[in-house]
Parts: sequence; structure tokens; C-alpha cells
Amino acid sequence: MDQTTHPWGDAATPFEALGGEPVIRSIVEDFYDLIDAEAPVLRAMLPKDDSTSRRKLGDYLVEWTGGPALYTPVRGHPRMRMRHMPFVIAQSDAQEWLDCMRRALDMNDVEGDVRAFLDQRIEQLAWHMVNADDDDPKTAERRRLTLNPGS
Ligand code: HEM
Repeated sequence: MDQTTHPWGDAATPFEALGGEPVIRSIVEDFYDLIDAEAPVLRAMLPKDDSTSRRKLGDYLVEWTGGPALYTPVRGHPRMRMRHMPFVIAQSDAQEWLDCMRRALDMNDVEGDVRAFLDQRIEQLAWHMVNADDDDPKTAERRRLTLNPGS
């Protein structure tokens, strides 16, 4: 059978090109470890115990890359922008999120066509989550309320 070349290479799905679920779980662990260590504004948006956040992002990425549907049957239609509306996400937050994700991809040796494909698609998704403007004075106040609910 002829192989069809996709933007991510010869594999049937980006999921396969990446090396499947163990690689995706490892990327997610490294991503959240980087947030824990180096991205305090993003870390403060997450629950103290971030194990569920890790599981949800892993489940989503497995499904989104063409692997088994681990996310939608459990959590419903992704509607990612809507799910991110409770958080103040300005351009600088999207940039920081992307920096951590790119470094996690580096740490897991994600290279070549699948890397170029993921860099482009994940960047689009991250900018789609932006719901605040760094230059808007209201952003600082909304961020303060997000970081210190009830204050
Ligand atoms: C742009 C910067 C982003 C910020 C600041 C951000 C922040 C967050 C936060 C604070 C949560 C809640 C965590 C929790 O419920 O435990 C969350 C959930 C989630 N995020 Fe993001 N996120 C960003 C971009 C993205 C992108 C690009 C994706 C997809 C590739 C993504 C996928 C998810 C998923 C799947 C969840 C879980 C939703 C659920 O089922 O509750 N996020 N995000």
C-alpha cells in the first residue's frame, strides 16, 4: 500500500509519529514540572494538587493528536476557549505557556516534521485561549482576583 505523507510525516497520525501515549504523558509531566519550577503566574492558576490537571491535558493531547478518545467521552466537547474563560490569559501568559510546552517537546526529543506540525498547531491553540490584553489596566486587577480569589 502506498504511504501518504502528511504534514507530520509518514505516520498515520501525529500520535503515532510522536511515539504514542507514553511519550505524550512524559511531555505533559515535563511541561507541568517546568510550570511548577519556573512559571509562578501560570502555577497560581492551577490547583495545589495538579495531578488532575496533568491527567486532563494528557488525555486531551492523546485524543487531539489522533490517539484513543480519552478526553471527550469523559469530559464532553472540548470547547477549550470556553473552559479557559475563568482564567485571565493575556499574551504574556500564552507566551509563557508556549515556552514551557516547547521546552517539554525538546526534553522528549520531538523533532522533524511532527515537531514543526505541533509547534504550529499548538501555537494557534494557545493564542486562541487569550482572553485578556496585557496592556489593559483591567488585566492586572482581574489577574489579582484570579490569583487571590475572595481578596
Ligand atoms: C495559552 C495559555 C494557557 C493557559 C494560561 C492555560 C491554563 C489552564 C488552566 C489554569 C487550566 C485549569 C486546570 C485544571 O482544571 O486543573 C487549564 C485546563 C486545560 N487546558 Fe489550558 N491553558 C493554556 C493553553 C492551553 C492549550 C494551548 C491547550 C491545548 C493544547 C490547553 C489544554 C487544556 C486542557 C485540556 C485543560 C483541561 C480542561 C478540563 O477538562 O477541565 N490549554 N488550562
